Amino acid sequence: MRLSDWLFHRDAAIRIGRLATSHAARLAEIHAEAFTRPWDAMEFERSLTERNIYADGLFLDRSAEPAGFILSRRAIDEAEILSVALAPEARGRGHSGALLDRHLQSLAQAGVRSVFLEVEEGNRPALALYRRRGFREIGRRQGYYARPDGTRASAITMRRQI
Ligand SMILES: CC(C)(COP(=O)(O)OP(=O)(O)OC[C@H]1O[C@@H](n2cnc3c(N)ncnc32)[C@H](O)[C@@H]1OP(=O)(O)O)[C@@H](O)C(=O)NCCC(=O)NCCS
Repeated sequence: MRLSDWLFHRDAAIRIGRLATSHAARLAEIHAEAFTRPWDAMEFERSLTERNIYADGLFLDRSAEPAGFILSRRAIDEAEILSVALAPEARGRGHSGALLDRHLQSLAQAGVRSVFLEVEEGNRPALALYRRRGFREIGRRQGYYARPDGTRASAITMRRQI
């Protein structure tokens, strides 16, 4: 890894780079802290070997282990963002925007023109992140997500051209 891969963002040294199967265990940990239905390390390993999966990691303070990730599946000129999460200690510093920007750049370089995603209606940081990056709501699935307290929340489908 070259020093030039790192950049300073909000007083932290960050690097955004491709993820490998060796990161699978850490990705499963981050996922488990972010979502109620966790993906295990095997699922990450499988996904990271798929040719149509694009995965970028956020690395902080020269660490070799990621503090966040974003994963998309590409189909010709469209891609769906399957999951985005930052470890709790990495949140609230604007790093998710840097991660998403870099990821969208790699998708665009690969020929993707439209990017889709789904987000829970009450997820304010995620909605702010996507709206700020030009994603617009194109549909809703009522009651799609089951919350831990037994209530249900709608999924908002968003799209952005890149
Ligand atoms: C979604 C997630 C990646 C965003 O990363 P983050 O570090 O928390 O957010 P950032 O500090 O980068 O801020 C992103 C935006 O959300 C806003 N924001 C952050 N926390 C917020 C909160 N509690 N309420 C409202 N807005 C909030 C920020 O102001 C920023 O908006 P701006 O760009 O318009 O200023 C992170 O919160 C996370 O991993 N959450 C758990 C997993 C998840 O929900 N993933 C998304 C599934 S679709």
